Amino acid sequence: MSFHFKQKTAVSGDSQSSDMVRVWDIVVRIFHWSLVATFAAVWLTSDDFVWLHKILGYGVLVLITVRLVWGFIGGKYARFSEFVKSPGAVISYLNDMRNGRERRYLGHNPAGGAMILALLFALLVTGVTGWMSTTDAYWGIRWVEIAHELSADGCIVLVGAHVLGVIYASRKHGESLAKAMVTGLKQRV
Ligand code: HEM
Ligand code: HEM
Repeated sequence: MSFHFKQKTAVSGDSQSSDMVRVWDIVVRIFHWSLVATFAAVWLTSDDFVWLHKILGYGVLVLITVRLVWGFIGGKYARFSEFVKSPGAVISYLNDMRNGRERRYLGHNPAGGAMILALLFALLVTGVTGWMSTTDAYWGIRWVEIAHELSADGCIVLVGAHVLGVIYASRKHGESLAKAMVTGLKQRV
């Protein structure tokens, strides 16, 4: 009796194996999960722990700044040039989604790319208006306070849409995008 073992094409945990490819570099992954944690903490502290809220808010601004720089000098899939598409391309991708025939992307899809820009912008506005409200020039100015509250609410709405989008795309293409944001690895297209 002879035993026959099939040659494995992909070894789990091996980023160089034939069908897995490293998409998210270490900076993107650390940025993402640090942002999730800091953003949650900045919300939880906004009413009763304002001193901590301010420190965490600056933390969000530091993270966003690092990501903006990384968008120009980071790895292939981290670069804005890779995932920022024209409004026309985003609309045509959304149309494809409506018809259920959008294609899978290894990096961010066009709608995901637009969402990332919106998130980074909303977080930046929230952080800057929060900081402004503590300066001599803008302290107690109503529009600055309102802008801070409204942009913070905008961040929550965008985060909700972002997470729904991640769940939708994961189901559609039968893969866990959240897991890929942890390991950095995705199945080659
Ligand atoms: C537990 C909740 C969350 C999950 C599961 C999640 C998951 C993900 C995943 C899978 C991606 C990559 C999407 C893709 O494959 O194209 C991503 C990207 C991103 N997410 Fe989230 N996310 C969460 C919460 C948040 C929150 C709270 C924020 C902001 C406050 C956020 C901001 C971002 C940003 C900015 C990116 C772009 C990453 C980059 O290229 O640097 N996410 N997220
Ligand atoms: C980007 C991340 C930030 C988010 C998501 C955020 C969110 C919030 C939220 C939801 C509130 C409560 C608004 C209300 O209903 O009254 C708030 C209040 C406030 N935030 Fe922020 N904030 C951020 C960054 C900052 C920064 C960087 C500073 C200043 C350094 C700051 C300073 C304040 C102050 C002074 C208040 C008023 C607190 C009070 O007296 O009740 N925030 N923020």
